[in-house]
Amino acid sequence: MNTRVDPNKLQDFMGKAVGDIGAGMSAALVLIGDRLGLYKALAAHGPLTPTELATHTHTHERYIREWLNNQAAGGYVDYDVVAKKYSLSPEQACALADETSPCFIGGAFQIIAAVMKAEPRMQENFRTGGGLDWCDHHHDLFVGTERFFRPNYAGNLVAHWIPSLDGVVPKLVAGASVADVGCGLGTSTILMAEAYPHSRFWGFDFHADSIDLARSRAHAAGVADRVTFETAKSTDYPDAGGKPFDFVTHFDCLHDMGDPTGAARHVLKTLASDGTWMIVEPFAGDAPEDNFNPVGRVYYAASTMICVPASIAHHGPALGAQAGESTIRKVALDGGFTRFRRATQTPFNLVLEARP
Ligand SMILES: C[S@@+](CC[C@H](N)C(=O)[O-])C[C@H]1O[C@@H](n2cnc3c(N)ncnc32)[C@H](O)[C@@H]1O
Repeated sequence: MNTRVDPNKLQDFMGKAVGDIGAGMSAALVLIGDRLGLYKALAAHGPLTPTELATHTHTHERYIREWLNNQAAGGYVDYDVVAKKYSLSPEQACALADETSPCFIGGAFQIIAAVMKAEPRMQENFRTGGGLDWCDHHHDLFVGTERFFRPNYAGNLVAHWIPSLDGVVPKLVAGASVADVGCGLGTSTILMAEAYPHSRFWGFDFHADSIDLARSRAHAAGVADRVTFETAKSTDYPDAGGKPFDFVTHFDCLHDMGDPTGAARHVLKTLASDGTWMIVEPFAGDAPEDNFNPVGRVYYAASTMICVPASIAHHGPALGAQAGESTIRKVALDGGFTRFRRATQTPFNLVLEARP
């Protein structure tokens, strides 16, 4: 062994790495649990034996038994040694079985699946400097991203984020026109439309399949009368039927764009002179070392595999998911905005306000 290696530090590192290897190896199993409804069945009917869980979910007992032992070893399910039954604690059920909980993590594993599929292409990009357009990812990325962000938006957007902005709530209550740019599957647009029935909403995204899904979700949510989803770029979406928007939003997408400053300019062009632009970005400090923590680790991984190549695919500046407030401030000011501030934050998001 290299004499410079400290065995205690090596042991610490290997302990951490084994934890990561276990998590990585188990990611496909969490995805299977999510897709086959194994967590939901455990939450609804547990404690269960492997045979009982297999019966409830129309699956094969031998696979279920092995899956349950992996999950118990990782702390994702509980095991009763005496009864030989498996169950979810209330906390595990929140995170794994309840799509409406603010802690639901199922979407993250769908994103991981899409990222693994992008690995060969990204390996090539590391050599060539090429990009990977958002639209060229596996479908799991679009649906997984929506499921990953939705709990956070449902818990924060209407209750905390919009009220943190200067004077926006009264306008939305009275009836305002709103553009949600880079809206993806439209969750944020629909949440706002549900909360402010007198306002009119437009959701724009350049990914046509996401816009199709957003439209059907608006119908399902009963808000299609006040929400229009259209395929459009952040630099060329139309105005609010001949009038400027009162409120424009970008949720977790400005840093992905090929021309963030052009997007900022287009917001200014389509915004009323007393309007507000809300930019929601992943939480980050300005210096890389500010983000060397578990949340920053997740975001830098997503940034490397999704956000940076998405911008490079459009010859963009590749701001990255950990761009931080100073970088976004520069984008807004370069785009012509004169006022900019951090309105609020959560452990996962910065909520930034720009005014003309
Ligand atoms: C990380 S996703 C976020 C989606 C959605 N805002 C959300 O929070 O769930 C980024 C979105 O930005 C969209 N996007 C990226 N560049 C765009 C551009 N130049 N114009 C319009 N949409 C764009 C992508 O298609 C994708 O739906």
